[in-house]
Amino acid sequence: MSRLESMRRRLTAQIDGLNWAAKATAGLTGDVLEMGLGNGRTYDHLRERMPDRRIWVIDRQLRAHPDCIPPERDFLEGEADAMLTDLARRSARMVLTHYDFGIGVPEDDAAEALRLSALIAPVMVPGGLVVTQQAMTGFTQIPGPESIAQGRYFFYRAG
Ligand SMILES: C[S@@+](CC[C@H](N)C(=O)[O-])C[C@H]1O[C@@H](n2cnc3c(N)ncnc32)[C@H](O)[C@@H]1O
Repeated sequence: MSRLESMRRRLTAQIDGLNWAAKATAGLTGDVLEMGLGNGRTYDHLRERMPDRRIWVIDRQLRAHPDCIPPERDFLEGEADAMLTDLARRSARMVLTHYDFGIGVPEDDAAEALRLSALIAPVMVPGGLVVTQQAMTGFTQIPGPESIAQGRYFFYRAG
């Protein structure tokens, strides 16, 4: 598969996965967490699909498209470890976390996701969903939408 095709699969998985998760969490009370603002594409999609939710965003730098800059009060600029600890201290609770970190080095990306799992768990409401490109630990893995190839994206329910 070419890198172009791989990117198409990734984007399709993100759209289908986030749409599915937005519907699946509709009955829960809480906020949304976007981990990895980047250009702001998935953040923009989340705010379109979940307009009534507060969407917190973590990124070590603000480099998004000008149309996709989160409100200042919702943007946590810094390293994820410290920002997640801060969110937990503030008692923020998420019905959905979308994890989109990664530098394209598979071993490093996998290790970081496993390490951050333990810091994501305390900010989730019971039954909340974690939608992620990387495997996580400490949550219950559930099937996502059928359109997404096995292992392309991961879906977890918080306990
Ligand atoms: C793949 S990009 C996100 C793409 C974005 N979701 C989009 O759709 O445009 C990953 C982002 O995560 C951020 N990032 C990666 N690891 C991080 C960490 N440990 N703490 C904070 N930000 C991190 C990077 O700065 C980068 O902007």
